Amino acid sequence: MIIAHISDTHIALDTPDADQRRSDLERSIANINTLDPAPDLIVHTGDIVHSGQPEEYALAASTLANARAPVYVVAGNKDHRANLRGAFSSRGYLGPESEFIEYAVDDYPVRLIVLDTLSSSSNRGDFCAERARRLIELIDDETTKPVAIFTHHPPFIVTVGPHPLHFETQEPMSRLQQALQRSGRVVAIFSGHVHRPAAGYVGTIRASVVPCIATTLRKGDYPAHMQSRPVYHVHRFDPDGGFATETRIV
Ligand SMILES: [Fe+2]
Repeated sequence: MIIAHISDTHIALDTPDADQRRSDLERSIANINTLDPAPDLIVHTGDIVHSGQPEEYALAASTLANARAPVYVVAGNKDHRANLRGAFSSRGYLGPESEFIEYAVDDYPVRLIVLDTLSSSSNRGDFCAERARRLIELIDDETTKPVAIFTHHPPFIVTVGPHPLHFETQEPMSRLQQALQRSGRVVAIFSGHVHRPAAGYVGTIRASVVPCIATTLRKGDYPAHMQSRPVYHVHRFDPDGGFATETRIV
Protein backbone atom coordinates (compact mmCIF):
# COMPACT_ATOMS: atom_id res chain seq x y z
CA MET A 1 0.00 0.00 0.00
CA ILE A 2 1.44 3.36 -1.08
CA ILE A 3 0.26 6.78 0.11
CA ALA A 4 1.41 10.04 -1.49
CA HIS A 5 1.21 12.73 1.19
CA ILE A 6 1.00 16.44 0.35
CA SER A 7 0.09 19.39 2.54
CA ASP A 8 -0.29 23.14 2.90
CA THR A 9 -0.85 24.23 -0.67
CA HIS A 10 -2.45 27.53 0.51
CA ILE A 11 -4.09 28.11 -2.88
CA ALA A 12 -4.91 31.83 -3.17
CA LEU A 13 -6.27 34.12 -5.86
CA ASP A 14 -4.80 37.51 -5.03
CA THR A 15 -1.44 37.10 -3.29
CA PRO A 16 1.73 38.10 -5.19
CA ASP A 17 2.78 34.43 -5.25
CA ALA A 18 -0.66 33.01 -6.16
CA ASP A 19 0.55 31.72 -9.55
CA GLN A 20 3.54 30.02 -7.92
CA ARG A 21 1.32 28.28 -5.34
CA ARG A 22 -0.95 26.97 -8.08
CA SER A 23 2.03 25.85 -10.13
CA ASP A 24 3.58 24.10 -7.10
CA LEU A 25 0.40 22.04 -6.68
CA GLU A 26 0.08 21.31 -10.42
CA ARG A 27 3.68 20.13 -10.65
CA SER A 28 3.36 18.03 -7.51
CA ILE A 29 0.30 16.22 -8.83
CA ALA A 30 2.00 15.70 -12.20
CA ASN A 31 5.02 14.25 -10.38
CA ILE A 32 2.87 11.93 -8.25
CA ASN A 33 1.17 10.74 -11.47
CA THR A 34 4.58 9.49 -12.69
CA LEU A 35 5.29 7.33 -9.62
CA ASP A 36 5.88 3.69 -10.53
CA PRO A 37 4.44 1.77 -8.82
CA ALA A 38 1.58 4.23 -8.60
CA PRO A 39 0.27 5.31 -5.19
CA ASP A 40 -3.03 3.83 -4.06
CA LEU A 41 -4.17 7.22 -2.84
CA ILE A 42 -3.12 10.79 -2.15
CA VAL A 43 -3.79 12.52 1.18
CA HIS A 44 -3.70 16.31 1.53
CA THR A 45 -3.27 17.19 5.22
CA GLY A 46 -4.84 20.63 5.07
CA ASP A 47 -4.49 24.32 4.49
CA ILE A 48 -5.67 23.45 1.00
CA VAL A 49 -6.51 27.10 0.41
CA HIS A 50 -5.38 30.30 2.10
CA SER A 51 -8.59 32.23 2.82
CA GLY A 52 -11.31 29.57 2.85
CA GLN A 53 -13.07 31.06 -0.20
CA PRO A 54 -15.18 28.93 -2.59
CA GLU A 55 -13.25 30.30 -5.60
CA GLU A 56 -9.97 29.12 -4.05
CA TYR A 57 -11.47 25.67 -3.45
CA ALA A 58 -12.70 25.52 -7.04
CA LEU A 59 -9.14 26.14 -8.24
CA ALA A 60 -7.63 23.65 -5.80
CA ALA A 61 -10.22 20.97 -6.59
CA SER A 62 -9.79 21.33 -10.35
CA THR A 63 -6.02 20.90 -9.98
CA LEU A 64 -6.39 17.92 -7.63
CA ALA A 65 -8.80 16.38 -10.16
CA ASN A 66 -5.78 15.80 -12.41
CA ALA A 67 -4.48 13.18 -9.98
CA ARG A 68 -4.77 9.58 -11.18
CA ALA A 69 -5.09 8.27 -7.61
CA PRO A 70 -8.06 9.16 -5.39
CA VAL A 71 -7.44 12.24 -3.23
CA TYR A 72 -8.54 12.49 0.40
CA VAL A 73 -8.53 15.86 2.16
CA VAL A 74 -7.97 16.97 5.75
CA ALA A 75 -9.08 20.37 7.08
CA GLY A 76 -6.36 22.83 8.19
CA ASN A 77 -6.66 26.05 10.16
CA LYS A 78 -6.85 28.11 6.94
CA ASP A 79 -9.65 25.92 5.61
CA HIS A 80 -13.37 26.65 5.91
CA ARG A 81 -15.27 23.52 6.81
CA ALA A 82 -18.46 24.22 4.82
CA ASN A 83 -16.63 25.47 1.72
CA LEU A 84 -14.21 22.53 1.84
CA ARG A 85 -17.17 20.17 2.12
CA GLY A 86 -18.82 21.93 -0.83
CA ALA A 87 -15.75 21.50 -3.02
CA PHE A 88 -15.04 17.83 -2.21
CA SER A 89 -18.42 16.32 -1.25
CA SER A 90 -18.90 14.69 -4.66
CA ARG A 91 -16.04 12.31 -3.83
CA GLY A 92 -18.32 10.56 -1.36
CA TYR A 93 -16.14 10.20 1.73
CA LEU A 94 -17.17 13.40 3.55
CA GLY A 95 -20.27 12.51 5.51
CA PRO A 96 -22.60 15.47 6.10
CA GLU A 97 -23.59 14.24 9.55
CA SER A 98 -20.83 15.87 11.60
CA GLU A 99 -19.78 19.44 12.20
CA PHE A 100 -16.21 18.11 12.01
CA ILE A 101 -14.28 17.03 8.91
CA GLU A 102 -13.53 13.51 10.16
CA TYR A 103 -13.91 10.12 8.48
CA ALA A 104 -12.45 6.65 8.06
CA VAL A 105 -11.33 4.98 4.82
CA ASP A 106 -11.70 1.19 4.88
CA ASP A 107 -10.61 0.29 1.34
CA TYR A 108 -6.96 -0.55 2.08
CA PRO A 109 -4.87 -2.97 4.21
CA VAL A 110 -4.34 -0.10 6.66
CA ARG A 111 -7.44 1.68 7.91
CA LEU A 112 -7.12 5.45 7.45
CA ILE A 113 -8.70 7.87 9.90
CA VAL A 114 -8.80 11.60 9.15
CA LEU A 115 -9.19 13.94 12.13
CA ASP A 116 -10.34 17.51 12.52
CA THR A 117 -8.02 19.49 14.85
CA LEU A 118 -9.37 22.95 14.05
CA SER A 119 -9.85 25.55 16.75
CA SER A 120 -12.62 28.13 16.65
CA SER A 121 -10.37 30.77 18.21
CA SER A 122 -6.86 30.46 16.76
CA ASN A 123 -4.64 28.95 14.07
CA ARG A 124 -3.39 26.37 16.55
CA GLY A 125 -4.88 22.95 17.10
CA ASP A 126 -7.74 21.91 19.35
CA PHE A 127 -9.23 18.54 20.23
CA CYS A 128 -12.30 18.67 22.46
CA ALA A 129 -13.75 15.84 24.53
CA GLU A 130 -16.44 15.27 21.89
CA ARG A 131 -13.85 14.73 19.19
CA ALA A 132 -11.89 12.36 21.46
CA ARG A 133 -15.06 10.34 22.07
CA ARG A 134 -15.75 10.18 18.33
CA LEU A 135 -12.14 9.17 17.57
CA ILE A 136 -12.34 6.26 20.01
CA GLU A 137 -15.60 5.17 18.34
CA LEU A 138 -14.02 5.42 14.88
CA ILE A 139 -11.00 3.35 15.97
CA ASP A 140 -13.20 0.73 17.66
CA ASP A 141 -15.47 0.36 14.61
CA GLU A 142 -12.98 -2.03 12.99
CA THR A 143 -10.53 -4.07 15.04
CA THR A 144 -8.70 -6.27 12.51
CA LYS A 145 -6.51 -3.75 10.67
CA PRO A 146 -3.71 -1.43 11.71
CA VAL A 147 -4.70 2.26 11.66
CA ALA A 148 -2.94 5.30 10.18
CA ILE A 149 -4.07 8.73 11.36
CA PHE A 150 -4.01 11.98 9.38
CA THR A 151 -4.19 15.37 11.12
CA HIS A 152 -3.35 18.91 10.14
CA HIS A 153 -1.71 19.91 13.44
CA PRO A 154 1.01 17.48 14.58
CA PRO A 155 0.04 15.92 17.93
CA PHE A 156 3.58 15.88 19.32
CA ILE A 157 6.23 18.38 20.44
CA VAL A 158 8.04 19.56 17.31
CA THR A 159 11.68 20.12 18.16
CA VAL A 160 12.58 22.02 14.95
CA GLY A 161 11.42 25.59 14.34
CA PRO A 162 10.22 28.25 16.75
CA HIS A 163 6.98 26.61 18.00
CA PRO A 164 7.27 23.26 19.82
CA LEU A 165 3.54 23.09 20.64
CA HIS A 166 1.12 23.37 17.71
CA PHE A 167 -2.00 22.99 19.86
CA GLU A 168 -3.49 25.83 21.89
CA THR A 169 -2.39 24.19 25.13
CA GLN A 170 -0.99 20.85 26.23
CA GLU A 171 -4.45 19.71 27.37
CA PRO A 172 -6.16 19.12 23.99
CA MET A 173 -2.96 17.59 22.59
CA SER A 174 -2.76 15.20 25.56
CA ARG A 175 -6.42 14.29 25.07
CA LEU A 176 -5.72 13.41 21.45
CA GLN A 177 -2.53 11.51 22.34
CA GLN A 178 -4.41 9.39 24.89
CA ALA A 179 -7.18 8.56 22.42
CA LEU A 180 -4.57 7.58 19.80
CA GLN A 181 -2.69 5.24 22.16
CA ARG A 182 -5.72 3.54 23.70
CA SER A 183 -6.29 0.71 21.18
CA GLY A 184 -2.68 -0.21 20.44
CA ARG A 185 -3.60 -0.48 16.73
CA VAL A 186 -2.56 2.98 15.53
CA VAL A 187 0.76 2.47 13.73
CA ALA A 188 1.47 5.91 12.24
CA ILE A 189 0.40 9.57 12.42
CA PHE A 190 0.91 11.87 9.42
CA SER A 191 0.51 15.66 9.67
CA GLY A 192 1.25 19.03 8.06
CA HIS A 193 0.93 22.64 9.28
CA VAL A 194 4.57 23.21 10.27
CA HIS A 195 5.75 23.87 6.67
CA ARG A 196 9.01 22.03 7.38
CA PRO A 197 9.82 18.33 7.91
CA ALA A 198 9.61 16.97 11.44
CA ALA A 199 9.34 13.60 13.13
CA GLY A 200 8.49 12.36 16.60
CA TYR A 201 6.46 9.89 18.60
CA VAL A 202 3.14 9.70 20.38
CA GLY A 203 4.02 7.04 22.94
CA THR A 204 5.46 4.35 20.67
CA ILE A 205 3.51 5.51 17.58
CA ARG A 206 5.65 7.00 14.85
CA ALA A 207 4.57 10.51 13.79
CA SER A 208 5.83 12.73 10.96
CA VAL A 209 5.20 16.09 9.31
CA VAL A 210 5.53 16.70 5.57
CA PRO A 211 6.85 20.13 4.41
CA CYS A 212 4.41 22.44 2.64
CA ILE A 213 3.87 22.13 -1.10
CA ALA A 214 3.81 25.95 -1.47
CA THR A 215 7.50 26.70 -2.00
CA THR A 216 7.09 30.39 -1.19
CA LEU A 217 5.85 29.48 2.31
CA ARG A 218 8.29 26.68 3.07
CA LYS A 219 10.39 26.94 6.25
CA GLY A 220 13.93 25.69 6.72
CA ASP A 221 17.09 25.97 4.65
CA TYR A 222 17.07 24.52 1.14
CA PRO A 223 19.84 24.82 -1.45
CA ALA A 224 19.25 27.34 -4.23
CA HIS A 225 18.42 24.71 -6.86
CA MET A 226 15.58 23.46 -4.65
CA GLN A 227 13.96 26.82 -3.86
CA SER A 228 11.18 26.40 -6.41
CA ARG A 229 10.81 22.62 -6.16
CA PRO A 230 7.98 21.32 -3.94
CA VAL A 231 8.60 18.44 -1.54
CA TYR A 232 6.21 15.66 -0.60
CA HIS A 233 6.29 12.31 1.16
CA VAL A 234 5.55 8.79 -0.03
CA HIS A 235 4.58 6.39 2.77
CA ARG A 236 4.88 2.70 1.83
CA PHE A 237 3.28 0.13 4.11
CA ASP A 238 4.69 -3.35 4.56
CA PRO A 239 2.75 -5.73 6.85
CA ASP A 240 5.97 -6.89 8.49
CA GLY A 241 7.91 -3.63 8.72
CA GLY A 242 5.17 -1.00 8.98
CA PHE A 243 5.48 2.33 7.20
CA ALA A 244 8.64 3.59 5.50
CA THR A 245 8.67 7.19 4.34
CA GLU A 246 10.48 8.56 1.30
CA THR A 247 10.92 12.29 0.68
CA ARG A 248 10.31 13.22 -2.97
CA ILE A 249 11.56 16.43 -4.59
CA VAL A 250 9.43 17.57 -7.53
FE1 LIG B 1 -1.82 25.25 9.14
